Amino acid sequence: MELPVIDLAPYLEIGDGELGAGLSESCSSVSRILRETGALLVKDPRCTAEDNNRFIDMMENYFEKPRDFTRLQERPNLHYQVGVTPEGVEVPRSLVDEEMQEKLKAMPKEFQPSRPKGPDRKWRYMWRVGPRPSNTRFQELNSEPVIPEGFPKWSETMDSWGHKMISAIEAVAEMAAIGFGLPKDAFTSLMKQGPHLLAPTGSDLGLYGQEGTVFAGYHYDLNFLTIHGRSRFPGLNIWLRNGQKVQVKVPVGCLLIQTGKQIEWLTAGDCIAGMHEVIVTSRTIDAIKLASDQNRSLWRVSSTLFAHIASDAVLKPLGHFAESPLASQYPPICAGEFVEQELSVINLKGSKGES
Ligand SMILES: [Fe+2]
Repeated sequence: MELPVIDLAPYLEIGDGELGAGLSESCSSVSRILRETGALLVKDPRCTAEDNNRFIDMMENYFEKPRDFTRLQERPNLHYQVGVTPEGVEVPRSLVDEEMQEKLKAMPKEFQPSRPKGPDRKWRYMWRVGPRPSNTRFQELNSEPVIPEGFPKWSETMDSWGHKMISAIEAVAEMAAIGFGLPKDAFTSLMKQGPHLLAPTGSDLGLYGQEGTVFAGYHYDLNFLTIHGRSRFPGLNIWLRNGQKVQVKVPVGCLLIQTGKQIEWLTAGDCIAGMHEVIVTSRTIDAIKLASDQNRSLWRVSSTLFAHIASDAVLKPLGHFAESPLASQYPPICAGEFVEQELSVINLKGSKGES
């Protein structure tokens, strides 16, 4: 199944002007696709394939370094909130959530996700993007960002790509709000000063390139919306609302957006958090062969950014979603408190991201 691509350019061009019939239709498509699939492909003229390549080149270069170098950026005492998280730390929710395990057993065999036997085999780098509130009940640890030695353009590359992807998320969040019949800024006003995290992953396909290897076990993201640039190696599977499993193909120059648990809360389950996994598939193996022939890196980098609702904002069904029969399943809770609860389940308490 090919997911449709929404071009954000016409929406960005009108600014605060009138939407018109064509753009209203695009906003409806955005909310409908998010509701039905939990994933959306977009093209944003501000986020180019060159930007994505520059970022992935730097991260490949970083993950290629010897482990005694990359482990210098590890901050376990700060719960991996900044710097690198080595493989073997993050635990996929499907491994620890018994209710989820029961649901998996009930799924048709062909749609069942891979069952990891232990923690994820992926590395991750955490880099905060955007301003944080000076006065908050959920103070992030006051830790300096971690910059590896020998990467003079590290901060500039991380900040630049991070800000561009947040801009794309904001446009999608506005279009989705309009499509859901909410005020245009219903979501973006809650995202201001949120604990957004650029959190690229690195998976060593040279070491773990066997078909079926699980890099990120079946899970949902706990944040609002997640965005990634195109990865050089396929391997992401998503589950549609109807339970169907789909291998995602991101066209060159496009971005992939996935729904997290916070948008589910704000829409009282009209839009649900998208389940996904990253595994080595036969298409990944084809890409590994090609990369080997061309002498390219065998690290699979995903340029993931987790966009969050501000920690002090209250998560609760917005507007007409408050009248939904499911609204009682989504009681008001501070976003910061919600994140802490979720993280304690997946072994990352104190951190702000997930897969
Ligand atoms: Fe994820």
